[in-house]
Amino acid sequence: MIEGPGGARLRTLTSTDLDAVLTIEEASQPTPWTAGNFRDCLHSGYRCRVATVDGEPVAFMILSCVLDESHLLNIAVAPAWQRRGLARWMLRQALAEADDAGLSLMFLEVRDGNQPARRLYRELGFQETGRRKAYYRTRGEEREDAVLMMVEITGAHK
Ligand SMILES: CC(C)(COP(=O)(O)OP(=O)(O)OC[C@H]1O[C@@H](n2cnc3c(N)ncnc32)[C@H](O)[C@@H]1OP(=O)(O)O)[C@@H](O)C(=O)NCCC(=O)NCCS
Repeated sequence: MIEGPGGARLRTLTSTDLDAVLTIEEASQPTPWTAGNFRDCLHSGYRCRVATVDGEPVAFMILSCVLDESHLLNIAVAPAWQRRGLARWMLRQALAEADDAGLSLMFLEVRDGNQPARRLYRELGFQETGRRKAYYRTRGEEREDAVLMMVEITGAHK
C-alpha cells in the first residue's frame, strides 16, 4: 500500500467506521447522506474505502461497479484535511484499482457550483459529458444542476 498525504492509508470501509464517516459527510456536504445511505452501500457490496491518518478516518469514497463501468457515488475529505492532496490520491487509487479490475470507464455527477470538485476531476482527466437540470437539492428552496463527467480508464493514473 502506497502511503498518501500526511501518511494516509486507504482501507475498506466497514460498519464500525459509520459514525466517523457520517461526521465527515455532515461537515462537508450541503445535503449529506444518511447512515442508511451508507449502510445500503455496504450491503450492496459497493467499493467503500476510508482513508485514515494514525488510524483515524479523515476521508472516504464510495464507488459502484456495473459491467465495465465504475461510478463514483460519493467522496469527501474532513474539512481540516482538505487541500492536502488526499482526494487526488484516493481517486488515483480508485482509477488504478478499476484498471486492475479491467474496467474501462468511470462516471460521476457533481453539483454545478462545486468548483473545487470539478477542478479536481478535470485535473484527473474527467470530461463533462452532460447535465441533469435541477437534479440536486440545496440547503434552501432552489435546485442545482448536476454536471455529468466521465474518464476513460487507461492505466495512465498509476
Ligand atoms: C472536493 C474535495 C473532495 C477535494 O478534496 P481535497 O482532498 O481537499 O482535494 P485535493 O487536496 O486532492 O485537491 C486536488 C485538486 O483539486 C482542486 N481543489 C481541491 N479543493 C479546492 C478548492 N477548495 N478550491 C479550488 N480548487 C480545489 C485543486 O485543483 C487541487 O489541486 P491543488 O491543491 O494542487 O491546487 C473536498 O473539497 C470535499 O470533501 N468537499 C466536500 C464534498 C464534495 O464536494 N465531494 C464531491 C462531491 S461530487
